[in-house]
Amino acid sequence: MRPLRASFLPFHRPWIDETEVEEVVDTLRSGWLTMGPKTLKFEERFADYIGAKHAVAVSSATAGLHLALDALGLQPDDEIITSTYTFTSTAAVALHLRARPVLVDVLPGQLGLDPEAVERAITPRTRAIIPVHIAGAPCDMDRLQKIAGRHGLSIVEDAAHALPAEFRGRKVGTIGDLTVFSFYAGKNITTGEGGMITTDSTECANLLRVRRLHGISRDAWKRYTAEGSWYYEVAYPGYKYNMTDLSAALGLQQLRKLDRFHAIRSYYASIYQLGLSDLAEIVLPEVEEGTQHAWHLYMIQLEPELLTIGRDAFVEELRRENIGTSVHFIPLHIHPYYRDVFGYKPDDFPRALHAYRRVISLPLYPRMTEADVWDVIRAVRSIVERHRVGRDV
Ligand SMILES: Cc1ncc(COP(=O)(O)O)c(C=O)c1O
Repeated sequence: MRPLRASFLPFHRPWIDETEVEEVVDTLRSGWLTMGPKTLKFEERFADYIGAKHAVAVSSATAGLHLALDALGLQPDDEIITSTYTFTSTAAVALHLRARPVLVDVLPGQLGLDPEAVERAITPRTRAIIPVHIAGAPCDMDRLQKIAGRHGLSIVEDAAHALPAEFRGRKVGTIGDLTVFSFYAGKNITTGEGGMITTDSTECANLLRVRRLHGISRDAWKRYTAEGSWYYEVAYPGYKYNMTDLSAALGLQQLRKLDRFHAIRSYYASIYQLGLSDLAEIVLPEVEEGTQHAWHLYMIQLEPELLTIGRDAFVEELRRENIGTSVHFIPLHIHPYYRDVFGYKPDDFPRALHAYRRVISLPLYPRMTEADVWDVIRAVRSIVERHRVGRDV
C-alpha cells in the first residue's frame, strides 16, 4: 500500500532562519563565544518576557533543575516529591545531590501531578515539590502552592515544556520559587541545548549565578575583558553549567518569534481538535479552564477497547504512512533503576501507567504546514477506520 504521504514528516524540526544565522555569525565575528554580553542580554529579555525578577541562563534544563535544588540547599537524604510521569532529569537531579525523589501519580484523566497524592507523600524530610507541566499544560499551581505553604516546602517547576504557559493569569515562570525552562532542539524555542531558571528571589539568583560557573566570584566570565581581573575566589565547589553566547545568540532571535510560534502551535492544535474530535477511539488533550497551554506536545490517547490494535502498532502504522510520532513518557517508576533501587511496581501509579499505554504525541511545530497537519489527521482517521472494533462484523 502506498503511504499517505510521499515524504516523511518528522516529529519535530526547529524553525531557524536568516535572523538566527546572522546573530550567530555576529557572535562568531565578535570573538566572544562563551558566556558574555549576549547571554546577559538574553537573560534580561527572557526575564522581561516572563515578568520574573531574575533569569539565569544555563547549559540545559537538566543543569537548571540540578542547580535549582542545589541553591535550595537540598541535603543527602532529603526528599523531593515529583510526578512519575516525566523525563528522567526531573528526578535524577535529586539523586545527584544524594537526595531521594519520591514519585507520585497524576490526576485522574490528566497528566499533571495529583496534589492530594503530593500531600500524602510528605514526610519530615520533604523539602520541595517539582510540578511538571507535561506537554505545556500547567499543573494545578493553586493547590500545590497551598500545600507547599502549609508544610514549608519550596516549589521548583519543571517548565521544560511550558513556554509560554499561564495558570489563572500568572505566567509559568512567576509562580513557584524557581522555574526551569528547556531550550533543547525540540522545545518551543531552542538554543540547540540550553535552559533558563527564573526566580523572584535575588538571594537565589545570586547563588545560581555563582554556582553555574564553578562557584567563583560573581562576574567570573568578565575576567578576560578589559574591565575584568585575573583574580578570582572560589566560594563554592560549583558547576560548569553556564550558557554560551553562541547559544544565547540563537535564543535572542528565537525569543522574538516565541509569540508567533505559540500562535501557530495553538492554531494547529485547534485543527487537530476539529479533525479528530468526532472519533470515539481517540481522546484529545483538553485545556483546563483558566490556563494557557504552551502546546509543546499534542498528546492523544487511544481507547484500546475500541480498537483492534494497541499503541505500539498504531505508532508503527503512522510511521508507514510517513508520519513521525513519539511517546511521552515512560513513567519513571517502571524504569529498571527505580524498580530495582526503590522497589516501585508498575501498579503503584495506575493512572500514569494507564496513560502511558495509550499516549501518542503527534507532530506539532510551527515549521510544519497546515497541509501537514491535515495529513496527520487523515492518517490517524484512516488507521482508526481500518482497526475499529467490530468493523468486519
Ligand atoms: C519534562 C522535562 N524535564 C526536563 C527535561 C530536560 O531538558 P534538557 O534537555 O534541556 O536538559 C526534559 C527534556 O526533554 C523534559 O521533557
